[in-house]
Amino acid sequence: LARGAAGRDLAGRHVVVSAGGTREAIDPVRFIGNRSSGLQGYALARTAVARGARVTLVAANVALPDPAGADVVATGSAEEMRKAVLSAAGDADAVVMAAAVADFRPAGYHGSKIKKADGAEPEPIRLVKNPDILAELGETRRPGQVIVGFAAETDDVLANGRAKLARKRSDLLVVNQVGEEMTFGRPDNAAVVLGADGSATEVPRGPKEALAEIVWDLVAARLEPLSP
Ligand code: CTP
Ligand code: CA
Repeated sequence: LARGAAGRDLAGRHVVVSAGGTREAIDPVRFIGNRSSGLQGYALARTAVARGARVTLVAANVALPDPAGADVVATGSAEEMRKAVLSAAGDADAVVMAAAVADFRPAGYHGSKIKKADGAEPEPIRLVKNPDILAELGETRRPGQVIVGFAAETDDVLANGRAKLARKRSDLLVVNQVGEEMTFGRPDNAAVVLGADGSATEVPRGPKEALAEIVWDLVAARLEPLSP
């Protein structure tokens, strides 16, 4: 639905949204990846455009049409996403990390396809840690910049979320409870949005657009007024 002038509360703002899931190459035909569809990040980008923002969408391995009006930057690995996000974040008012960034990548890349050797068991793949983009955004943020993370948690979902929010120095953390078939690739999502100010906003199960609108409401409330 089109929003009237009153709904364009992100006009004059630049927001960066990451979406999808990174892939860490093992060899030219194989990778380590995850099940993120990119739907939540794309919903965030579409709703931010509708609210008047200039939107940079840093996408990793999604099969979704570009949202009209957003600048889309295609990336593959976590390292590529890091470069694209940090570069776009320079003049951004808000950065929302909806992407699933692979925590680890293979320590080495095989330039040619790994082949089965007759009878032999495969070599183990050694992994190393990827950079934590959200933590880096939290450390290097400009004054007034609003940083938002996403987390899929099991077990003590809220305690895990609070700890993660603090560790990454974010302003907001959208926490999903995950289980089989609960979130990935589905159009709807239930979540609680934790704020560094101690707030907790429950979002009932509903379309990812509805969660996106609530995230932008919470972001808009934390932005500094535009200089006249
Ligand atoms: N994230 C990131 N860079 C990484 C890993 C995660 O920017 N290397 C971001 C994600 O985009 C997300 C948030 O951090 O917004 C939380 O991701 P999550 O995987 O829940 O957190 P981790 O710190 O990786 O912790 P865990 O061990 O629970 O996976
Ligand atoms: Ca992780």
